[in-house]
Amino acid sequence: MTESHPPEPAHLEAILLVGGQGTRLRPMTLRTPKPLLPTAGVPFLAHQLARARSFGVRRIVFATSYRASMFVEAFGDGEEFGLSLEYMTEEAPLGTGGAIRNAAQALTCGPDAPVLVLNGDILSGHDISAQIAMHVERRAAVTLHLTEVEDPSRFGCVPTDDQGRVTAFLEKTPHPVTNRVNAGCYVFQRSAIDRIPAGRVVSVERETFPGMIASGETVLGYADRSYWLDVGTPAAFVQGSCDLVLGRLHSAALPGPEGEYLALPGARVSPSAKLSGGTVVGARAVVDAEAAVHGSVLDDDCHIESGATVSESVVGAGARIRSGAVVHDAVIGDGAVVGADNELRSGMRVWPGVHLPPCAIRFSSEI
Ligand code: GDD
Ligand code: MG
Repeated sequence: MTESHPPEPAHLEAILLVGGQGTRLRPMTLRTPKPLLPTAGVPFLAHQLARARSFGVRRIVFATSYRASMFVEAFGDGEEFGLSLEYMTEEAPLGTGGAIRNAAQALTCGPDAPVLVLNGDILSGHDISAQIAMHVERRAAVTLHLTEVEDPSRFGCVPTDDQGRVTAFLEKTPHPVTNRVNAGCYVFQRSAIDRIPAGRVVSVERETFPGMIASGETVLGYADRSYWLDVGTPAAFVQGSCDLVLGRLHSAALPGPEGEYLALPGARVSPSAKLSGGTVVGARAVVDAEAAVHGSVLDDDCHIESGATVSESVVGAGARIRSGAVVHDAVIGDGAVVGADNELRSGMRVWPGVHLPPCAIRFSSEI
């Protein structure tokens, strides 16, 4: 089935999916939803909003559920960002498709207009205009941005034919047929959104897309190899923040120059401390003499004491890493204290407020 495509509206509308609980990012997401976590110095979504705006989006409907009020507090009516923002909240999460259908009630465009739909945890350098142009030219019902990853089993695996038509949508399959995956940015015809059932849980990945393909609707893949990252795990979240600071992905929302590190207002960094790899030093945070911090996110008011080493980690707001401690690939919750000479490594998470006494955890079996 094809759709009729009259001229595009002057300003594109978008739906942003931000209702997930971000469970893989706990304890960071216990109090703050994933899309609001401080990333390269600003809430994660600020980067997505700036990018959407640069491609002509002027009105965005947030599909919220988990901790919905925090989004309104962070972004308000959007004026500060040059956007008009609306919020549609699901009392109980409706899944990705149900959320899109629910949020569409706040769209102003007609049935023949294209609508941009974005997962709220994606950093992408792709050309959204080119994706929309493909969608409009080929009169598609929906056009999916596709990217290539090493492990497609963690994503929606999306094979296409040689015309770019999507032939199947296999969400989190243990047997992926291609490395090409759903990159979480769609152009939908408004009329295709209106055909999603209302008032119940629907997954676009498991129900809507497979159904559209089965019924012969034009589902296209816009594949490219630009910068792309889903920040849904601690390692990826840290990577995304660092990539923005380093300038691997340019963001108009970065609150300072690109470089090896970004220090926010009131941060105090000793001249003999070493900061590298796109580290963010949060507002009023302190990094003492001879401390080394590589590729990490240091949240506001945290304190890295002399001689401590932090790499590829998140240190929460007000947390303290005492002298000589080593923290690598770990998440330290807000207000936690890692006592002197502890050694925390791969995947370890210290819950907010927990105090680890000195030398409580050593990684090496030689000790
Ligand atoms: N409003 C609302 N309601 N939003 C939701 C809901 C819901 O019930 N469920 C999920 N979301 C939002 C999340 O907040 C996130 O922004 C987005 O939908 C995708 O959910 P994730 O939980 O991050 O899904 P994923 O990363 O496992 O998989 C998705 O993204 C991959 C790309 O990163 C799928 O779309 C995959 O097919 C895709 O490859
Ligand atoms: Mg995700």
